[in-house]
Amino acid sequence: MKKRVLSILLFAGFALGAIFITPSFAEYGDIVLNSKSESMKDAGVKPVLFPHWFHRIRFKCKVCHEDIFVLKKGANDITMGAIMGGDFCGKCHNGLIAWEPLYCDRCHSYEGN
Ligand code: HEC
Ligand code: HEC
Ligand code: HEC
Repeated sequence: MKKRVLSILLFAGFALGAIFITPSFAEYGDIVLNSKSESMKDAGVKPVLFPHWFHRIRFKCKVCHEDIFVLKKGANDITMGAIMGGDFCGKCHNGLIAWEPLYCDRCHSYEGN
């Protein structure tokens, strides 16, 4: 009897794990953009923490994928020149759709290294 309860609890645990943990790896979580770590360090800014989920609930996937961003972590060669010129994040962070890319720390906010 005890064993049965235990295995039900274990199963429930795995099921919950599958629901709450798996998707956050697949597509939901924040994405750290740090391929330009040297230049960012030189400029005195932290790596970029892109809140994917925050954007996903506001825009359809196809707004960004794959016209603006290739759908693969690290596959986009993003520079500040391009952003200021209206590409990548700058397609929206241009003072019209969203705030301008002047507030460095709003994007360069990753606390790790
Ligand atoms: C505002 C723009 C934007 C929207 C909207 C958006 N994404 Fe993304 N997505 C990004 C960026 C930026 C990256 C990171 C690309 C990189 O690392 O170079 C990314 C990366 C990804 C990745 C790769 C993650 C990895 O770990 O390899 C997947 C999968 C993905 N997005 C799925 C989606 C899906 C599904 C939707 C819609 C439900 C969506 N995205 C909506 C901007 C967006
Ligand atoms: C399709 C349009 C779009 C693109 C592309 C986009 N953003 Fe945004 N972003 C928005 C909007 C809209 C907001 C909300 C602005 C507001 O609240 O005034 C936002 C807000 C944010 C925020 C603040 C989130 C919060 O919790 O308030 C961060 C950080 C951010 N974006 C980073 C980025 C970065 C980094 C990129 C490029 C990798 C990017 N965004 C690309 C539209 C976009
Ligand atoms: C809207 C989001 C956003 C804002 C605001 C922003 N950046 Fe960036 N920045 C990025 C992204 C995304 C990258 C690419 C990171 C990577 O792939 O490694 C980047 C890359 C960089 C790089 C390395 C690439 C290059 O062009 O040399 C530097 C340096 C940099 N940013 C400095 C700044 C400074 C300084 C500010 C404030 C004036 C700023 N950024 C504001 C999103 C932003």
